[in-house]
Amino acid sequence: MKKKFLGWILFLITICNGQYVGAQELLTNVYGRQYTFLNGKWNVIIDPYQQGRRTSIYKNRPLRNKADFKEYEFEGGLRLNVPSDWNSQLPELKYYEGTVWYARKFKVNKNQDENLFLYFGAVSYRCRVYLNGKEIGSHEGGFTPFQFNITDLIIEGENFLAVEVNNTRTVDAIPALSFDWWNYGGITRDVMLVHTPKVYISNYFIQLDKYKPDYIHAILQLSERKAGQKVRIEIPELKIASEVQTDGQGIAKTSFRAKNLERWSPQKPKLYQVTVSSATDHVKENIGFRNLSVKGTKIYLNDAPIFMKGISFHEEIAQRQGRAFSEQDAVALLSEAKELGANLVRLAHYPQNEYIVRLAEKMGIMLWEEIPIWQGIDFKNAGTRMKAQRMYTEMVMRDRNRCALAFWGVANETAPSEARNAFLKSLVEHCHEMDTTRLITAAFDLPKLNPETKAFEMNDSFIEELDVVSINKYMGWYHAWPSDPSEVCWNVAPGKPLIFSEFGGEALYGQSGDSTVTSSWSEEYQEKLFRDNLEMFNNVKNLAGISPWILFDFRSPYRFHPTNQEGWNRKGLISDQGFRKKAWYVMKEFYNNK
Ligand code: GCU
Repeated sequence: MKKKFLGWILFLITICNGQYVGAQELLTNVYGRQYTFLNGKWNVIIDPYQQGRRTSIYKNRPLRNKADFKEYEFEGGLRLNVPSDWNSQLPELKYYEGTVWYARKFKVNKNQDENLFLYFGAVSYRCRVYLNGKEIGSHEGGFTPFQFNITDLIIEGENFLAVEVNNTRTVDAIPALSFDWWNYGGITRDVMLVHTPKVYISNYFIQLDKYKPDYIHAILQLSERKAGQKVRIEIPELKIASEVQTDGQGIAKTSFRAKNLERWSPQKPKLYQVTVSSATDHVKENIGFRNLSVKGTKIYLNDAPIFMKGISFHEEIAQRQGRAFSEQDAVALLSEAKELGANLVRLAHYPQNEYIVRLAEKMGIMLWEEIPIWQGIDFKNAGTRMKAQRMYTEMVMRDRNRCALAFWGVANETAPSEARNAFLKSLVEHCHEMDTTRLITAAFDLPKLNPETKAFEMNDSFIEELDVVSINKYMGWYHAWPSDPSEVCWNVAPGKPLIFSEFGGEALYGQSGDSTVTSSWSEEYQEKLFRDNLEMFNNVKNLAGISPWILFDFRSPYRFHPTNQEGWNRKGLISDQGFRKKAWYVMKEFYNNK
């Protein structure tokens, strides 16, 4: 008992003196700072019974004497690539849900004039991080970045880093117990050591006014919470060099006119080099400027209505049967979206890696990002709500300088209830605190055919909170056609822009069959299904966009059919081997003519 009590005292002391740093306020634009990757082969120990923490393997202690022994060793054992999921690296880990320990050493030359941050692009799903035998913090959420200030924790020379990763699904998690994609686990994105000066530019948000075409707002936070520090923002191509001082919180705010500004658009994705500098730090990146708003049932980009020619994809490279994580992966995914003629990608169903976000912006593709509030979430659980808010903060803080980001999605196919409405309303409010320029939407699968009006309608008070309402409806797949597609009427959220964020059906590439038989799983059936849905969309008066589900076949433990699916959701317009199905050409033609 005494030992346990002492343990608690020690734990409280470490919390107080800041050793337990926890995941901190995110640095803006880490790829624009001085960094070194910790990517590569890491040593791993698979720990299904979670013995590693109990036996403190993260201390990696040396043998004490001849009588001593250890029942583990990181070096010389199994190794996995970082970044990557573990499921695609070892056959025995294909379905694994549990704990895997990752560990590696890294050398540092301590420099007292700088801060050192340990930055993770994402770890799925939760993790605890240990440096030189001490727990320095933890993180939950498989799709957003986090970092630790390790300046005072590193030692000159060799440091030992251990990460305890666990991907077990739980009822209070986001996503929760079941979801239609693979439960990949692992250190799935870049790991970096980020160097900053002692006093550094922590974060900034530089964006065009929501409505004015030539008025830029900037807010910057320095690490030193003190007034009078000079900050400079330069956009050389616009001949802008704006100097401003911080307030007592170390925050500097300014706005300035930008004559001859060329606003970003899919046709001309213009980006400007922006440099932010303080007395000790300077950071640069390319930023675009555009106006985005809703007028009636139309979405306006800059000064004209724009139809969202959307498509979705999961963060997965089907041929590798694993998570996407690199710049090359981003090129592979987005070039197919561009080829289809899309001007919007819905990054389903979670924030995807920063390479995808930045490349989409360069290619002129708008983005819809969401955190994985997917169907059954524990909306009554205050802890789950806190997690959702934090995930939202991490997503918005990482991407709010990306002008291609057009939509923040707050939910996918959630059932109306008081708890769900309160939970999602709090998310919408939280988002508005961080960013008021983007459109907030959510995807619903609730519309039902009203026998009186013969139209699909939806009754959900939560839509009042949204700028744009989105509908997932699988006419011709999960739902039989109630009449000829040209006669199917919709009357959902009549006063708001409506996006069909999911529609489609399955086909096994290369399988031909009767285009009227759903269970044929044929390309002909899928092709006709797409033609029928496009026909139906002519009746949707407030249609502001469509986004077929989905660009690529993707892995899902839901999909059991032994010959048509084999653990793959086959709604892709492109097969898991990269071949375009007949329906791809239907969408290509539609977007070309739109
Ligand atoms: C839902 C859900 C998707 C899922 C799709 C399907 O609408 O949003 O995540 O993959 O249906 O059933 O294929």
